[in-house]
Amino acid sequence: MKLILGIESSCDETAASVVAGGRRILSSVVASQFETHGKYGGVVPELASREHLRAIVPVVREAMEQASIGYEDLSAVAVTQGPGLIGSLLVGITHAKAISLVRGVPLIGVNHIEGHIHAVLMDLEHEIEFPSLALIVSGGHTHLFEIGEGFAYRLLGKTRDDAAGEAYDKVAKLLGYSYPGGPILDKLAPFGNATRSRFTSPKMKGNELDFSFSGMKTAALRWVEANALEEEIAARKALGKSKMFPTVEDWLSVTPQATRDLIASFQAAVIEELLRRAAEPAEGLGAKCIVISGGVACNAGLRAAAASRMRLPVLFPKPVLSTDNAAMIAAAAFRKLEARDFADFSLSAKSSMPLA
Ligand code: KG4
Ligand code: ZN
Repeated sequence: MKLILGIESSCDETAASVVAGGRRILSSVVASQFETHGKYGGVVPELASREHLRAIVPVVREAMEQASIGYEDLSAVAVTQGPGLIGSLLVGITHAKAISLVRGVPLIGVNHIEGHIHAVLMDLEHEIEFPSLALIVSGGHTHLFEIGEGFAYRLLGKTRDDAAGEAYDKVAKLLGYSYPGGPILDKLAPFGNATRSRFTSPKMKGNELDFSFSGMKTAALRWVEANALEEEIAARKALGKSKMFPTVEDWLSVTPQATRDLIASFQAAVIEELLRRAAEPAEGLGAKCIVISGGVACNAGLRAAAASRMRLPVLFPKPVLSTDNAAMIAAAAFRKLEARDFADFSLSAKSSMPLA
C-alpha cells in the first residue's frame, strides 16, 4: 500500500502522520500550542511560527518512528499549502521540501479545508458518495460546499463575519472562560435550559446559504451588560489562571444557572444555524450524505442534533481527527498521488486558498 507522510502547520498545531492507501493511519502526532496561546486568549502568529520551528523535527521523527518506516518507503510527502498563517505554513512547507529534496520523495501541496473533508475517510466504513455536501466548521472557517463527481467542489455558502469556532471562543472569552472556549461551552450547555433563547436566527440578504454569527455574539454581550456579571466573570478568570485544565465540575462551580441557560441557548442557536443551512440545499441537489468536519464538529450537541434531526446520513470524523491533524492532509493527498499531481519547489504558502 502506498504510504504518504502528511505535515500540517497552518495554525497552532504542529502535526505529522503516516497514512497507508489514503485511509489507514499508521501514526498521527499532534503537538498543540495550547499552553503558549492560552494566556493571550487567541493564537499569536509570531509565537506560533516559533513553536512550529521548535516542534517540527521531533514531531515528524516521531510520526516516522511510530509508523516503523523509513523515508525510502514513502510514495510522497504532503504538506498543507494554505489557507493559514503564512509564517506557520512556511515551517511545514520548508520541512516537506527538505525531505523531498534530500530523500527524493515527490512533494504534494494540500488545501487545509480539503484535508478536513477527507478526515471522515479515516473511519474505514465511511464513503463520500457524489453528490454530497460538506460543512467545514472550525476556528477559521465556516464553509458549505457541494462535492460533485471526482471531488469537484462548489462553494454554496460561507460565514459573512465570524467562523463558528471563533464565535464560540469569543462568547466564552466574554463570559470569562479560558481559551479555546468552544469545548468548555459544549460541556456546560447540557446543564442549562435552552428554551428561553435570547438568540434569533439571522435573515440573510443575498445568498441565503451564507452564515452569520456576529448577531449571536452581540446578543451575548448585551446580556452580560444587562446582568452585571463582573463578580462571576472574575471568578471564572481566576479559575482559568489557577488551573491549566479545569474540569466541568470546576467550571460549574463558578457558573450560576442563568449563565448556564445562556450557554445552552447559544449552543442551540449555533447548532440550528449550522444544520438548517446544511439541510436546505441537500434535497435540491440530491445529496447522498453530509460531511461535517473541523474543530466545531467535535461538538457533542451538534453530533446529537445531526443524528436525530437530519434526514441524510451525516458523517463526522472522530473528534481527534475533526480538529487540525496531519492524517487528513495525507488522506487528501492520496488522490493527487494517484493522479501524479505533484508540486515542484516553487510551492508557496497561501494565506487564503479558496477550495472553490
Ligand atoms: O479545526 P480546528 O482545530 O482549527 C482551525 O482550523 O481553526 O478548530 C478549532 C476551533 C476552536 O475555535 C474551538 O473552540 C472549536 O474549534 N471547538 C469547538 C469544540 N471543540 C473545538 N467548538 C465547539 N464545541 C466543541 N466541542
Ligand atoms: Zn482546521
